[in-house]
Amino acid sequence: MPRTSGTLADDIDHILIDEETLRMRVRELGREINDFYQDQDLLLISVLKGSIMFMADLCRAIDIPHEIDFMATSSYGAGMESTGVVRIIKDLNNPIADRNILIVEDIIDSGHTLTYLLGLLDQRQPKSIRIVSLLDKPSRREVELAVDWTGFSIPNEFVVGYGLDFDEWYRNLPYIGVLKCSVYSELEDAAGS
Ligand code: IMP
Ligand code: MG
Repeated sequence: MPRTSGTLADDIDHILIDEETLRMRVRELGREINDFYQDQDLLLISVLKGSIMFMADLCRAIDIPHEIDFMATSSYGAGMESTGVVRIIKDLNNPIADRNILIVEDIIDSGHTLTYLLGLLDQRQPKSIRIVSLLDKPSRREVELAVDWTGFSIPNEFVVGYGLDFDEWYRNLPYIGVLKCSVYSELEDAAGS
């Protein structure tokens, strides 16, 4: 629903990760990835839209030559829980055979989305596939998933900002914040659920 008034920050219960902490950790991840892929081919794949801010900052923290590409997926079913059934809305522009792929994700929750994506990309026979996720909620994991680099492990709270959304809002907040429960209960009430 279009929104034309109010301040997004009013809907935030508290800031979980502030801008400076994000900046420092993303730089650190960039350095580690840089060292790891030294003298190798590298293609970063960002899963839209949640990882756009992370991708933009991470790729600038990686000095070695690399390419970037984007994919968009959608989880079937509305709401805040991922169903594990994923639909590709936008595919990669180029083949990935024999390339070193690094998937850049915003957050891993149940793990279903990435497990599906890994299976799909693996069929295209890349040389390697690794994962970097800005956030991880390990307590929510439903399928085992090897994450190569994680920015922050966070508790089981719904977070928004720095690309992450609730109902498409809050992506532009420069920090990661915990959404007030009243915000999603209002929406659920409005939807009659
Ligand atoms: P999974 O398939 O359960 O791992 O879900 C991962 C996806 O769910 C992420 O890429 C996000 O789009 C979304 N998601 C999970 N937790 C949150 C959250 O706390 N805030 C915003 N989006 C989330
Ligand atoms: Mg996502």
